[in-house]
Amino acid sequence: MSTTTDKTNIYLMGYMGCGKSHVGQQLAKFSHRQHLDTDKLIEKKAKMTIPQIFEQKGEKEFRAVEKEIVHQVALLQNHIISLGGGAVMDPENWETISNSGRTITLSYPPEIIMSRLSKKENRPLLNGTQDQTRLNRIKTMLEQRQPYYQRADLVLHFNQVISVDDIAKMLLTYCGV
Ligand code: S3P
Repeated sequence: MSTTTDKTNIYLMGYMGCGKSHVGQQLAKFSHRQHLDTDKLIEKKAKMTIPQIFEQKGEKEFRAVEKEIVHQVALLQNHIISLGGGAVMDPENWETISNSGRTITLSYPPEIIMSRLSKKENRPLLNGTQDQTRLNRIKTMLEQRQPYYQRADLVLHFNQVISVDDIAKMLLTYCGV
């Protein structure tokens, strides 16, 4: 019987704006697996968007729902799962994730992340910042989170933007799916 110790899931982790959702979708398409996105599941469960959850319930409540969702997806087999950028920082989440699949970090330098997120208003942790203040916030958060992102089985750091298709193809080979 399959159990969560089979580690058949593939988790995409890393900072906001590094392409976890799109790469996950594409990798799932190429590998004929199911794709799930924890942020989308959180929104579905809460019946609110991520910014609304942060605004109306606060980050603590968001993290509580995120933890429930992480536990639920970890029970599945052979799924490609895109995680929210902060999910792997919780020790219990990390144990659940790393025991149920292989982990892949997607990473870009802060300047590229900044430009990729420039027109997006759906990242509450960066709200109210722009230009240099936003870049500094991204740099600080990245520095704090680096040790967590580095724990992945595979860390892909890109110094220039690579297409979603190309990253998904690279991962297809790595994952052997
Ligand atoms: C967060 C990242 C977001 C979302 C929430 C918190 C984080 O997901 O989960 O806004 O703490 O980095 P993405 O990484 O998909 O943007």
